[in-house]
Order: sequence, then structure tokens, then C-alpha cells
Amino acid sequence: MSRDKEKIKNLYQSKLEKLKKHNKKYYEDSNPQIDDSEYDKLKKNILDLEEKYKFLKNKDSPSKTVGLKPSKIFLKSKHRLKMLSLSNAFDEKDLINFEKKISNFLNLKEYKNIEYSVEPKIDGISASLTYKNNILNLGLSRGDGIEGEIITENLKTIKDIPKNINHKTFPKDIDIRGEVYIAKKDFESIKDRFANPRNAASGSLRQKDSNETKKIPLKFIAYTYGFKDDIGFKKQSEFLDLLKNWGFKVNPHNKLIKGISGLIAHHKDFEKKRHELDFDVDGLVYKINDINLQKRLGSVTNAPRWAIAHKFSADSSFSEILNIEIQIGRTGALTPVAKIKPVNIGGVLVSNATLHNEEEIIRKDIRIGDTVKVERAGDVIPHVLSVDLKKRSKNAKKFLFPIKCPSCGSKVIKDFNKITKKYDAVKRCSSEGYKCEKIAIEKVKHFVSKEALNIEGLGKKVVEKFWELNFIKLPSDVFLLDYEKIKKLDGWGELSANNLKNSIEKSKNIGLDKFIFSLGIRHIGQENAKLLAQYFETKDKFYNLMKNFDFLSLSNIDGIGETQIKSIKNFFSDQINLKVISNLLSTMNIREILQIKKGKLKNKTFLFTGKLKNLSRAEAKSLTEQNAGKILSNVNKKLDYLVIGEKPTNKKIKQAKELKIKVIEQSEWEKLLK
Ligand code: IVH
Repeated sequence: MSRDKEKIKNLYQSKLEKLKKHNKKYYEDSNPQIDDSEYDKLKKNILDLEEKYKFLKNKDSPSKTVGLKPSKIFLKSKHRLKMLSLSNAFDEKDLINFEKKISNFLNLKEYKNIEYSVEPKIDGISASLTYKNNILNLGLSRGDGIEGEIITENLKTIKDIPKNINHKTFPKDIDIRGEVYIAKKDFESIKDRFANPRNAASGSLRQKDSNETKKIPLKFIAYTYGFKDDIGFKKQSEFLDLLKNWGFKVNPHNKLIKGISGLIAHHKDFEKKRHELDFDVDGLVYKINDINLQKRLGSVTNAPRWAIAHKFSADSSFSEILNIEIQIGRTGALTPVAKIKPVNIGGVLVSNATLHNEEEIIRKDIRIGDTVKVERAGDVIPHVLSVDLKKRSKNAKKFLFPIKCPSCGSKVIKDFNKITKKYDAVKRCSSEGYKCEKIAIEKVKHFVSKEALNIEGLGKKVVEKFWELNFIKLPSDVFLLDYEKIKKLDGWGELSANNLKNSIEKSKNIGLDKFIFSLGIRHIGQENAKLLAQYFETKDKFYNLMKNFDFLSLSNIDGIGETQIKSIKNFFSDQINLKVISNLLSTMNIREILQIKKGKLKNKTFLFTGKLKNLSRAEAKSLTEQNAGKILSNVNKKLDYLVIGEKPTNKKIKQAKELKIKVIEQSEWEKLLK
């Protein structure tokens, strides 16, 4: 090839790469970095080059794609009821565990025969459709589960979605939820343009012009509800029948199954058949069929207690380990990661695979240069399964796990687990907080992440970039950004800098629970952050904790144990952490946790001791909280009622009597609830 020809090819290639990057920003991240006119210019450049130099050809060329054009981000709207996700099960052990937890919570003696609604888990994009007075008037994407994008017009182009429903049993107000997807055979004709059917569905739902959505044959299967008027069905299976009567498509493979052995047998059978189906499935969803039990079980932060996704085994492929690197997490954990020769596994290009920890590397005898089997299951991080020893070359190199943190040079340690009386398999950097650069970056990423401040446009890559440029070193720096400088950065402009500014401003308004979670205190995840927020109620009370160093009071919170308290204490002993919190408290508008719940037990505190009749401790607690009561974990002067069951702890009764706290029977507590 002549030099000129090569030059032109390179130019063309680099423009295509750029276009691809902006397509991803728009379609996958919902975060366009350039405006429409810039995008059009780029596309025109490419088409002009193709026109002029006939030897240029590429399957990614915009000439081969229908006008996929980025535009403004969609407006958002809050889901009336949160859109939850599902916890995962991979094997029988996980399912047994799931049932055990349920039967403990429900205090079931005989739980061998729980009935489940078993539904294929279609790998698509979930959507929520609001029907008021029989008319579809709002369609939302899942978003972060709390608010979704308004994509009503695009959803209306889908044939399977009824625009109005005139059926006598259809409620006047209901959210219908289900999955938008592309059938495998329909994907065939557009497969050059997308990595997999799921991406295609996601991309075409995000078109600004619904005529573009229409060009892609999307389908919809309904499977659950959000907010709804009271309608009298008692089973999930009855609801699925109603959906069918109202004119929705439901999955023809839905089934009712009792007991785990039945579930396992069906899973095995269905997994074999999965490739014959006309849609991508990544597992089966098991939902307790009895709605009453579902209501009693309720949910944790993001997932119901009454359902689980049983995944199919993962796709896998072989590749070569080019190198092993150490990744340092937010809590200082050192994770070895294999850099592998990029390989396509189930439609996704994989170039990193986790090796978990040092013990795992030794156990599997994994070396640099080895040919390994890599597995990838849905949204789970790819991991190295095994080594093909036959292919090991003489040059394969053993990996020496560092004894010092590769980022800050601190000693590497292992935690001792008091319960298992063993050292953790994970090694960590012994430096706490922001002194270790890699930990600090991860802390900032956590601070702005979806589950915390949820700052759109400040993804992981951007945080790293801003870190390098010294724009952000601490979470509080997020609110001190210089947008004039950002505007001028490569890949940025007026529009994207403004978008970022807006989302950062918006993120200043946050509930106390999310704020506590965002600090990234070890062992304080979303659930624990919520418990702490409910206990403190206001940011001032939370701030006093660190000023007065009154950590003992935390043992009052049911669910917060020794490990958490130790970690909180540790966190507040660090000067930089204190500085960060003070800065944040003065810049942000942290909402108190309003105890909006009305309930018979409002402002009353309870502690249970002894075995309750027909009721598990967990459900008693959950019922107390649903009625706005609070649970304490030990007897002290803040306690209002000690509720005693069979064989109570006498010491607790004695302490309660000394403090003149009311000691009541389970039946009296039940009366308070009525
Ligand atoms: S139920 C209340 N049913 O799986 C539980 N979800 O990880 C939440 N999905 O976002 C939804 N098929 O996109 C439910 N039959 C089914 C499903 C299903 C696929 C997806 C859905 C959701 C994700 C949960």
C-alpha cells in the first residue's frame, strides 16, 4: 500500500473510532459528549472520505447504519414504586439458602413445598407502563430503579404494547412492567450494527425520533406491576392470567413449580432448550406465587426477598494471559487481574479477567503466558476458570504477589475473621483512607456512583482523567470544578460541561442515608447506611457523633454490630475523613430522614426477647418498622417496650424492670399493632 493510501486509511479509521465512541456515549451511557451539529459534521467527514476514496470500507461505516443520531438526554420521571432488581442464585446450594431465609422469616415449619411462579429471565431492557383511565400515558425505562427516562413515544411504537385497554377488570390506574427485547431472528438483519440483541434493544429505545425506534422490530413481554389500584388477585400466576386477558403478551414458558428439586429439574431442562428459543435468556426467575407471602416478606434495598434469578451457566472461551496486574479497591483490597488477549465471549469483548486473590492463583497454578479458560455470566465480572496445562510454554512465568501496596508502598495485610477464626483470603493495603492514591480514586468513584450521588457524566473514566489533571483529589473537590477548563478538554465542549455542571448541582440534594453510604465507610453498605440514617434522622445528629466520639450509642441500632462500629470509629479517627465530611456538610443539602410513615407504633422503641409464637423475629421486627416503630438491640433508657416470648433472657427482663421499662407479652404487642 502506498504511504498516502495508508495515511488516508488511518485518518478514516480514527474518525470511525471517534464516531463509535460517541455512539457508545449516547446509546449506552446516555451521556452525549458532543452536540448534534458536531456529530453530523463527523459523520459527514467519514461519508465524504468514503465517497472520495473508494478503497475505504468498514462494517462500522455510518453509511451502513440507519440515522442513529445522538440527541438530548431524555427527561426523567420518578417511578411511583421503585423498580427492583433480583438477587442471583447459581446452584442448588444458593436456592436452599434462599428458601431457608424465607422460611426463617415467615417462621414456616414445613417449607418443602413453596409454590413458585417460574418465568424465563429474558435478557432485554425493562420498562414500566402507566395506564390511567385505560390509556397508556407514560412509559419509563428502569433508569436507576428510582427514576427512569421518559420514552413513552418510543414504547408506543411496539406492537405488543396496548395503547388503550377496554376490559372490565382492567384497573383505572396501574403500572405494568415487563421486558423490551429483540427476537433472535429479527436481530439477524441488524447484527452488523450491534454487539448483541440487548444492546440493539437499548439503542433503539433511546432514539429521539420514535420513527427510528419503529424501524427495529422490538417486542414486549409483561411480567409484573408497580403502583396499582387494589385488584383482587392472590397469586402471581393469577396476575399473569389477567395480563393475558387485558391483551399483553406473557411468556408462554411460564410455569408453576413446587419445591427446590422441581426447580432444579426444570432449570436443567430449560437450559438445554435455551438456544432453541427465539429470545436471549440468561436464567429463570423464581417468584413466590402467593402474593400475601410476598407482602409479608417485603424487600431489602434493591431486591425483593420473595424472588430470585437462577442464572444459566456462563459462556466461556480460551485466551492467553499477557500479564497479571494488581487492582486496588475502595476498601484497600488487592485483586489480581489477568490481562488477556481480547476474546469475544457471548457477544462481549473481554480483555480482563479476575483471579480473585493470591490463594486462587496458587491453587489453580496460574502463570503469565498460560492459556486459560475464561468464563463470563451476564453482568458478573469475567473470571479465569482453569489453565490448559498442555499448552503451557517453558516461558510461562509465576506471579509474585506484592508484599507492599503497589500504589502507596504500605504493608499488605490480611484481616482476621473472628467468627471463622481464619485469616481472609484477600490481602489489603494497610493504609486507610485517602493516603493511598489508588484507594482515594476508588473512593471518589464510589462517591459519585449510581448508588451514591448518582452524578451523570462523571463515570469512572472521567474521574480518572480529572484525577490526573488534579481537578479532583477528594470527594469535596467535585463541587469545586472549574467548568471553563473542562470545556476546553479534548472530547468536551460547552454542552457536555454544562450537562455535568447541572448533574453535579442536582446531586447536592441527597437523603442522609445515601450521604452516609457515599462516604464509603467499610462495612457500611446501602442497608447499614439506611439503618444509621434512620437512627440519626438529621445530619446534625450524625455530625455530633463524630464530634463527640459517642460510638457506644451505635450498639443500640439493631443490625449494626461490632465490626461496623469498629469500622466507623476507624473512619472518624482519620483527619482527612473529618475534613471531607465537614466540607461536604457545608456544601450539600442533606435531607433528614423524615419518618413520614404513619403508624400505630410511631416514636416507640421495642426489643424482642425469647421465641415468638407463629412469627419469626425478623418478621416481628419488619412489622414493627412498617408501623413506624423502632427496634433497639439492647435494654437501655431509650427503650419503651421489652416484648417477651417463650424462654426470654432473664437478664434483659431484670434490666428492663430496673429501668422501669414496660415488659409486655407478644399478644400485647399484637394489640398495639391492631
Ligand atoms: S421481576 C420484582 N420477572 O430481570 C422483581 N424480572 O434483575 C423484579 N427480568 O430488571 C422484576 N424477566 O429486567 C422479573 N419474568 C421476569 C423477568 C425479569 C427478566 C429482568 C428485569 C429486571 C431484572 C432483575
